[in-house]
Amino acid sequence: METVVSGIRPTGNLHLGNYFGAVKSFLQMQDEYNCYFFIADWHSLTTHPHPENLRKSVKTILSEYLACGIDPEKATIYMQSDVREVAELYLYLNMNAGIGELMRTASFKDKARQQLHINRDSNDDSDVEKEIFNEGNKHSVSAGLLTYPTLMAADIIIHKALKVPVGKDQEQNMEMARRFARRFNSTYNVDFFPEPASFHMSAKAIKVPGLDGSGKMGKSEGNAIYLVDDEKTIKKKVMKAVSDAGPTEPNSIKPEPIANLFTMMEIVSTKDTYDYFNEKYNNCEIRYGDMKKQLAEDINSFCAPIRERILDIAANDDYLNRVARMGAERASENAAKTLREVREIIGFRAD
Ligand code: TYM
Repeated sequence: METVVSGIRPTGNLHLGNYFGAVKSFLQMQDEYNCYFFIADWHSLTTHPHPENLRKSVKTILSEYLACGIDPEKATIYMQSDVREVAELYLYLNMNAGIGELMRTASFKDKARQQLHINRDSNDDSDVEKEIFNEGNKHSVSAGLLTYPTLMAADIIIHKALKVPVGKDQEQNMEMARRFARRFNSTYNVDFFPEPASFHMSAKAIKVPGLDGSGKMGKSEGNAIYLVDDEKTIKKKVMKAVSDAGPTEPNSIKPEPIANLFTMMEIVSTKDTYDYFNEKYNNCEIRYGDMKKQLAEDINSFCAPIRERILDIAANDDYLNRVARMGAERASENAAKTLREVREIIGFRAD
């Protein structure tokens, strides 16, 4: 059975982007593959969470994974920090990772800008590099942020995964993971790690848009609709979505904010509902107020049962602890097996 690995950082509640970009695939894959789904708590340290908040966020994601329907009997669910072998593999991969290639990744540059408190005002990246090396800068960029892709590669290849269900925003990280797997093999002249591929149930990578005009939905973008949001909150967020005065020509191309509304509808509503509003748009008869009302209703119908389960599961600490312990055990066992072989390949004592 092929192995699947994926993870989500505990940075708050799961939102629709996480669900449709990743979790939906987890649910479909857990029946057919040997699945490892983890909570990327080491990765979240790049934002230096307070221990209490970290604990809370990890519990939140665990409850939400389970409420969405990830089944601990079918998939191994665990915290990244419970599988220390991942950190050892991360160390080995870092020895063969170039600072230059890590610095060139788009997500590093974006996040480094955030840590350095600089705005992106052009497509020129020399601003980040200059500021990183500027001794006078009172903010610094952590080595953990730079080596984020090697840790992600370690997460994946420690289980020798072939498939990784992730959203479109992870493509560059996945490219790096394949590169580091290949590099290990060629450095030691072995055929040990397979190259992991991104996996999308719908054949193409998903990017759930924000409803604030442009870009993707995300926590740090401040435009997320969360699975736990109640009906009123969902309605408020959707009714605030950016729209315009409507098309003046039949069948005109949709500007980005409008295209985003339709993309969201395509994701959560029925095909009939989508077609109905699409036709209205094409005939210049669209009323965005009506469309948003329908969209809010459909998002709420989708979230309501998950929301209820989240509240129940989060109240059951015994169950959550049992799931976490069982997952840690299973994931560690498999990781230790890989690591024994890795140590031997490198030239260390294996056990
Ligand atoms: P994270 O925590 O940012 O996001 C978790 C998952 O949600 C997907 N996602 C989206 N998909 C579509 N549209 C959106 N608007 C959207 N927002 C988020 C992400 O693509 C991701 O699949 N680096 C990873 C965590 C990670 C990981 C791994 C993933 C660490 N190690 C190993 C897979 C394998 C991250 O930051 O995801």
